[in-house]
Amino acid sequence: MMNFSPPPTTTIQRLWQMNDPSARAESVTVPKRLVPPHIEALNAYQPGRPPDALKAELGIERFINLASNENPLGPPKSALDAIKAVLTDINRYPESGGFRLRETLADVYRVKAENVVVGSGSESIMANIVRAFLHGDDEVVTSEGTFIGLYVLVNSQGVKLVKVPLKDYKFDLDAIAEAVTEKTKLVYLCNPNNPTGTMFSRAEFENFIKKVPDHVLVILDEAYFEFTMGIAEFPDSMTYRYDNVLTLRSFSKAYAMAGLRVGYGMGHEYLINYVNRVKLPFEPNMLAQVAASAAIKDTTYLGGVLENNDEGMRYLTNEFQKLGWEYVPSSTNFVMLPTKSAEKVKQIHDGLLREGVAIRPLAAFGLPHCFRITIGLPDENEACVNALKKYY
Ligand SMILES: Cc1ncc(COP(=O)(O)O)c(C=O)c1O
Repeated sequence: MMNFSPPPTTTIQRLWQMNDPSARAESVTVPKRLVPPHIEALNAYQPGRPPDALKAELGIERFINLASNENPLGPPKSALDAIKAVLTDINRYPESGGFRLRETLADVYRVKAENVVVGSGSESIMANIVRAFLHGDDEVVTSEGTFIGLYVLVNSQGVKLVKVPLKDYKFDLDAIAEAVTEKTKLVYLCNPNNPTGTMFSRAEFENFIKKVPDHVLVILDEAYFEFTMGIAEFPDSMTYRYDNVLTLRSFSKAYAMAGLRVGYGMGHEYLINYVNRVKLPFEPNMLAQVAASAAIKDTTYLGGVLENNDEGMRYLTNEFQKLGWEYVPSSTNFVMLPTKSAEKVKQIHDGLLREGVAIRPLAAFGLPHCFRITIGLPDENEACVNALKKYY
């Protein structure tokens, strides 16, 4: 007979088997489920409380969410009509591989469908890139103070993540190029950057890409691309088409479909082919596929979004200037304000929440003295400024 050494144990509360929340949970000892150390070190995503729960708790009528860089205008009618037209077909699986959406996007960007991958949000495509390309001793280089989703994905893959400090709240492309070694498999750039709102220019990008060796894959996360379309200096990655660059874009921001979960990636077919090998075949879902196909052609809708955003950004930054509050000039649908301390941010966040306005404190992004405000509708922006005047 084989001899097993006893497995390590852990104590948990036997809670989930009980329907009655008033019942006392019993402590039980169970075998410790061993997971790799890089999974043990992760923390689960902490969702904010749902608006209805907050309204009831705070006794407020209206809740203004300026915390998540969502689009306040609501989704395009063209997307809603496309969804309605297929609603009764949801007993069927979606088109496998999202072929029609890929063809539509290929048409818009004048590439082949083989150059396009679609997914349940651009973050899902990012996850598939991480799964497809990273293992073992590979290293990823990026900046501090950028999209947390990338950090989580890289850490959960168990590969080394090198974070270079921001310079004046911008990606320090020179330092990032210097941090690249023979182990670097991937460099992640977010342009314009969440949460700082800053962008690097064509000249800065061209100087950077010259220094990056061919073995390095560069992800250019352009989730906020539409808000920079009018800026001549913005280095739109699709105007370069480097063989080692993967572009990521989203329908969650300018196209107001964050809840539907749909995004896309573009790059050389040889890279896209690997991403498609690990992708779940039926994402994004059927409604997301048809809505995105309609929205990407809806230039009238996009025009209205950019107008509301420009107006809101102008209003907020004018107010900040008049009040003498520091802010970081932004090329996105949000603006970041540095303050003196993390305590100050907490005071502002808690005060605003009591008034029914949610903003995003940025400690989790490594910027504990900063907070971020998403551009809302004109009256939402005004309500935010009025609340800020009370608590800043
Ligand atoms: C920079 C950046 N990349 C990616 C995402 C994820 O976008 P999606 O909703 O398409 O997954 C976000 C969302 O906040 C983001 O800010």
